[in-house]
Amino acid sequence: NRVFVFNGPNLRRLGTREPDVYGSTTYDDLVALCRDTGHRLGLSVEVRQTDDEAQLVRWVHEAADERVPIVLNPAAFTHYSYALRDALAQRTAPLVEVHISNPAAREEFRHTSVVAAVATGTIAGFGMMSYVLALQAVAELLAEEKA
Ligand code: DQA
Repeated sequence: NRVFVFNGPNLRRLGTREPDVYGSTTYDDLVALCRDTGHRLGLSVEVRQTDDEAQLVRWVHEAADERVPIVLNPAAFTHYSYALRDALAQRTAPLVEVHISNPAAREEFRHTSVVAAVATGTIAGFGMMSYVLALQAVAELLAEEKA
């Protein structure tokens, strides 16, 4: 089973970006963590990052057309991108929204997610482990589908 892990703006700078909030794990470490976790769960994980809203929307269309589940950290797009939300609403497979930090415990503008209502569910606040938990959720959902 293929699974996409999509990351929105600024996430390629993990490791150097606000380490007090996001930790010292680099983006490359995150890619390796997701691939290893996928391997352990029998999933073929493809990890991508973009700072570009249009690119992300096109990737979401690709996932919908190919019925591939998505683990998505929409980063700041979470809070205001209706274009991303409308693209995600077309999904044909599970969608898990993930956040490294816990947006509910941060600034007011981070308390709104325009993506949450079209996601299967959300995992936030567990650092890089949020991605591990999200991939586990996808694996469970796929196993349920087959059962
Ligand atoms: C984030 C939280 C967002 O509010 C922020 O804009 C990010 C990262 C997280 O993973 O904690 O870029 O999605």
